[in-house]
Amino acid sequence: MNTPAITGTGVFTPSEVITNAELVAAFNAYVDLFNAENADEIAAGTVAAKEYSSEDFIFKASGIQQRYVIDKTGVLDPKVMHPLLRQRSDDEPSLMAEMGVKAAQNALAQAGKSAKDVDLVICAASNMERAYPAVAIEIQQQLGISGFAFDMNVACSSATFGIQAAADMVRSGSIGGALVINPEICSAHLEWRDRDCHFIFGDVATATLIETAQAATGPYFEIKSTRCATEFSNNIRNNNGYLRRSRPAGMVDRRDMQFMQNGRKVFKEVLPMVSDHIAAHMADGGVQAADLKRLWLHQANKTMNDFIGKKVLGRTPEPSEQPNILQDYANTSSAGSIIAFSKYSGDLEDGDRGLICSFGAGYSVGSVLVERHA
Ligand code: COA
Repeated sequence: MNTPAITGTGVFTPSEVITNAELVAAFNAYVDLFNAENADEIAAGTVAAKEYSSEDFIFKASGIQQRYVIDKTGVLDPKVMHPLLRQRSDDEPSLMAEMGVKAAQNALAQAGKSAKDVDLVICAASNMERAYPAVAIEIQQQLGISGFAFDMNVACSSATFGIQAAADMVRSGSIGGALVINPEICSAHLEWRDRDCHFIFGDVATATLIETAQAATGPYFEIKSTRCATEFSNNIRNNNGYLRRSRPAGMVDRRDMQFMQNGRKVFKEVLPMVSDHIAAHMADGGVQAADLKRLWLHQANKTMNDFIGKKVLGRTPEPSEQPNILQDYANTSSAGSIIAFSKYSGDLEDGDRGLICSFGAGYSVGSVLVERHA
């Protein structure tokens, strides 16, 4: 049996930023337009007036201050309120592949490796921009990797589930190295006109290179163990799919074809699920709270992460023990914990242990226990 290890990670961050102030100004302008256009119906009580969003609420409820996006022009136009993404021809690289390739190149560069060291590409993300051919195979071709590739979707837990699949294959020897790539274009499945969630998401791509520990040419993180769990819930749901494309006559919008959540319920139900999951994973791995130098958690909500950190460590974690990136990136679905890991892991010392954990729709939760070798 081989010992699997994370030998490199990479992040691709889009160049456009939307601050909370810009977001709220655009949303409130949309509210004014909507309420003016529907003034008669609102007066007659057949349509509900829309309410303003607030920067204060967004920061207090989530900890988010800004988000990166592929296109801010459409999102901030009160008459559009979604990203304007050019339809690419079949001969051009798809957008997810383009972002994924950039993140993968950064991961390979960090590990000092090239395409020949990789036998498998998993594109693991919350949404795929087409049904087939797999985006992963397109990325494989663009990077010049031989072997095989496939897409997988476990919503916000896609990265950790992908890491478990890759680590198991490396451990068994069926592959030598794998790239798990998470291009998340969350701006395209967010309903920017919904005050309850319009602030939640951002865009990014991350990549994780998993090889045998012996193949590492620099510092690496041994994957001690992984654990995945799922429990069905409708509280985070998106009905977009190949059977749902047709719209009844006269219906221009289907709210259920975008991200929907019952945020309060998610909060209440996912917190104990994640805390229990991590506790059981640590117990089985013989790991005590005092053994953990760092937690790299899913990045959806600061209060949620503070709660989980406290439950896992048995005390309030120092900010350096549980780094958050959601203030800058917002929720980037499966990529969030990998951004945190990529940005805040290089300083760990030989023998230091940490835990990556993601959670979200499904419900799903995935955790990866790692140990630094420097
Ligand atoms: N601006 C101002 N007020 C707003 C608002 C906005 N943008 N959005 C909602 N509000 C109001 C609501 O109308 C509500 O008012 P009321 O108390 O008068 O009814 C109040 O603020 C509280 O709203 P609520 O939705 O209950 O807020 P919350 O504290 O639960 O925070 C989330 C909302 C989404 C940030 C939070 O529930 C969350 O993060 N949940 C988990 C999300 C998660 O992990 N999802 C996984 C996604 S992959």
